Amino acid sequence: MHTPIPPSSLSAPLTLRNGAVVPNRIAKAAMEENMADSGQIPGESLRRLYETWAQGGVGLILSGNVMIDPTALTGPGGVVLDERQPIAPFKAWARAAMRGGNQAWLQINHPGRQVFAAMGQQAVAPSAIGVNMGAYSHLFPVPRALDEAGIAAIVGRFVTTARLAEVAGFSGVQIHAAHGYLISQFLSPLTNRRTDAWGGELRNRARLLLDVVKAVRAVVSPGFSVAVKLNSADFQKGGFEASDAVQVVRWLNELPVDLVELSGGSYESPAMQGAPQATEGAPQAGSTAAREAYFLDFARDISAVARMPVMVTGGIRRRAVAEHALKPSEGRPGVAMVGIASAMAFEPKLPERWKRGEALEIEIPSVGWRNKAYASLARMALVKLQLRRLGKGQQPKHDASPLLALIRQQVITKRRTRLYRAWVSQARLESSSA
Ligand SMILES: Cc1cc2nc3c(=O)[nH]c(=O)nc-3n(C[C@H](O)[C@H](O)[C@H](O)COP(=O)(O)O)c2cc1C
Repeated sequence: MHTPIPPSSLSAPLTLRNGAVVPNRIAKAAMEENMADSGQIPGESLRRLYETWAQGGVGLILSGNVMIDPTALTGPGGVVLDERQPIAPFKAWARAAMRGGNQAWLQINHPGRQVFAAMGQQAVAPSAIGVNMGAYSHLFPVPRALDEAGIAAIVGRFVTTARLAEVAGFSGVQIHAAHGYLISQFLSPLTNRRTDAWGGELRNRARLLLDVVKAVRAVVSPGFSVAVKLNSADFQKGGFEASDAVQVVRWLNELPVDLVELSGGSYESPAMQGAPQATEGAPQAGSTAAREAYFLDFARDISAVARMPVMVTGGIRRRAVAEHALKPSEGRPGVAMVGIASAMAFEPKLPERWKRGEALEIEIPSVGWRNKAYASLARMALVKLQLRRLGKGQQPKHDASPLLALIRQQVITKRRTRLYRAWVSQARLESSSA
């Protein structure tokens, strides 16, 4: 028997700027599953996974990043949505993802330079600067700097994917402008060295994001939500800083943006995993006690200027932390929503169980290996293992071995990379940004 706890602010509905209502304040944050069926489409396992979340009491589901360009994927099992893809599997996915009366938005993304060389595609970016991951840099191709036509084609692809997301029945899209992917590369002076209208001062570096938001908003219905995931900072010296994020949100205030989600970091500095490997002198994420709700301080500052609801994601596993994030503190506002990723893989019914007042301790195994790159990959692999299990209708496995999960993930990635390369050459796909 659990003692029922009175409904908290987590259960309060949230009305967005466009009038859409999110039934409560908990979102399942985006997690790239690498579980697409052949042809990079959602199939039975993704449907089952999303239905499980939808029936667990969540207010909003954000999909793992859905790729706008079939030749630019963050991983070989990624979902692609463009006009060449069949729409029926996406309709079935949307139905499953909204079965609980919740909102479900596709997160739409272009990875820019953060693509693996093994995928066999040419990478594009604002400038021809490769990912610097020390001994692992060779895993990423050196990108080609985009020209005007290439940038316009990418804006067009964001529009197409957003339009198709609405046709499929999703209730919104989230434009991924965080984590060092293409739009985030444009925002950061470390990766954007352009001297034209897309580089230099922040207004220019933010142009791609603002153009994408405007162009997407112009083709979708008013009731369809358009959100942005933004870094509160990229936690690299000389990079996109917290004050830049505040300014970008001020510009987004002028556009019909329904929600801003705050995260942080990139492949080079994975602050979103709570492990900023910032260069000396760079700001550190997460001054919050016990390294929970890593970006809450930033999110409160941004909430103070944002006219749209702000959501904070990263490190939230306990109900008390989620509730604290919603409340004002030390004269600063609370956030409107909390995003939860890893804990929702280990407990997909987390919102329902919190609502019932269960004293729930979500144990997310920590991987304390000395090699930080492998530790980070193993942490991701452990989470993805849970997603695959949920997709098969199995229960999460809390005591899985990080080493075995990592090896299994590597095997899956290798096999899927072969399948992906075969699909690209068979379909004779060409990037429109080439
Ligand atoms: C397996 C995995 C895949 C992820 N994929 C995405 C993604 O596709 N898009 C995104 O914005 N963030 C992605 N993230 C980051 C999460 O959305 C979130 O920002 C991060 O995990 C911190 O939240 P958490 O502590 O609740 O996990 C991913 C995280 C994990 C663990």
